Amino acid sequence: MKEDELMYLTGFGNEHMTEAVPGTLPVGQNAPQRPPCGLYTEQISGTAFTTPRAENRRSWLYRIRPSAMHPAFRQIENGLIRSAPFCEAPPPPNRLRWNPLPFPDEPVDFVDGLVTLGGNGEASSRIGIALHIYRATKPMDDRVFYDADGELLIVPQSGRLHLATELGVIEAGPGDFAVIPRGIKFRAALPDGRARGYVCENYGPLFRLPELGPIGANGLANPRDFRTPVAAFEDADRATQVLAKFEGNLWAAEFDHSPLDVVAWHGNYAPYAYDLSRFNTMGTLSFDHPDPSIFTVMTSPSDVPGTANCDFVIFPPRWLVAEHTFRPPWFHRNFMNEFMGLVHGVYDAKAEGFLPGGASLHNCMSAHGPDRVTFERAVAAELKPQKIEDALAFMFETRMVIRPTRFALETGTLQRDYDACWAGFERMFNG
Ligand SMILES: [Fe+2]
Repeated sequence: MKEDELMYLTGFGNEHMTEAVPGTLPVGQNAPQRPPCGLYTEQISGTAFTTPRAENRRSWLYRIRPSAMHPAFRQIENGLIRSAPFCEAPPPPNRLRWNPLPFPDEPVDFVDGLVTLGGNGEASSRIGIALHIYRATKPMDDRVFYDADGELLIVPQSGRLHLATELGVIEAGPGDFAVIPRGIKFRAALPDGRARGYVCENYGPLFRLPELGPIGANGLANPRDFRTPVAAFEDADRATQVLAKFEGNLWAAEFDHSPLDVVAWHGNYAPYAYDLSRFNTMGTLSFDHPDPSIFTVMTSPSDVPGTANCDFVIFPPRWLVAEHTFRPPWFHRNFMNEFMGLVHGVYDAKAEGFLPGGASLHNCMSAHGPDRVTFERAVAAELKPQKIEDALAFMFETRMVIRPTRFALETGTLQRDYDACWAGFERMFNG
């Protein structure tokens, strides 16, 4: 859903102010002795109090009941959700690729349908990521979910998600991505009946816009194109199950009211969404193939400069104009680790087998690049300006090896013959 169907605030990382009922947002201070209209005041901090100002994230919420009012959580089954450290199986140096995971036969909501393919780092240490697929066939009716282990960067591939969060309603469909910050409660409904997509659960530093360096002040994802929900609340005394992901496990508590009861809020810690067609894509105007970092939408840095905990990179529709150049990605072996997904269309480095909803994993120093068919086409191509149309692939690139889950290594959707796409390159050496 786009801007004309829901109200949004715009901008990234700036201080927002919003109230669903006029007069409920205190003026001039965060915590008056008696907040307007009998609301409770609550701060949620997404970073340490003393985080430098440029990266400090927190919001003040004015709500019908305090979040603290709930009974104890009890541990429940994790289903197919896994968390770092990922130690279920030795990570192979093999290139891995999966067909799309089918929708389950039984009705499952966003949380029940989550499947973890892999990840890295250590959730407790707030380092690394986990990579999940969601496949939802029913809305989260009287359930809400929050993740204390990390923020959730959601890339819808099929069907829209209607995300009712504590801070308001946000929608995202194929072509968008959305981020639910650590700790923010939300419920996912399905305007199209079902939905599938990818989730990067980021344990590390919050995703932010990358620096632009020599590009200058504009380009890539521009801050004004980010959508943040306006305040919207539920005043409902009905039983609601709150699911929490905490230190890798799922827990549940039964609330006697909806916790999506924030009437007004201000701050810079909030969900957001972005239409990837707004991405101002950069590329070569002369020759050769820039590294894909030029397509970075968001980055979660690490403590090593320029070496991301996770970069979110897209391969959007764009013109290819490079002269005397092999235009697809060349063969490579990288320090960084690459998990790719496809929203729709055909990715330019592969002729076939990389399907919308599928995924690939090329870990540290695992050799990959164009398949043989793509190579042969590219070296024979007439290098006219060419537009890649109607395709949207993306990559989560991370400094640590992505360790697959047992499910990922054993599922029938794993393509056992993936290596074959690089078989049969002719020996052309004639020196
Ligand atoms: Fe690669």
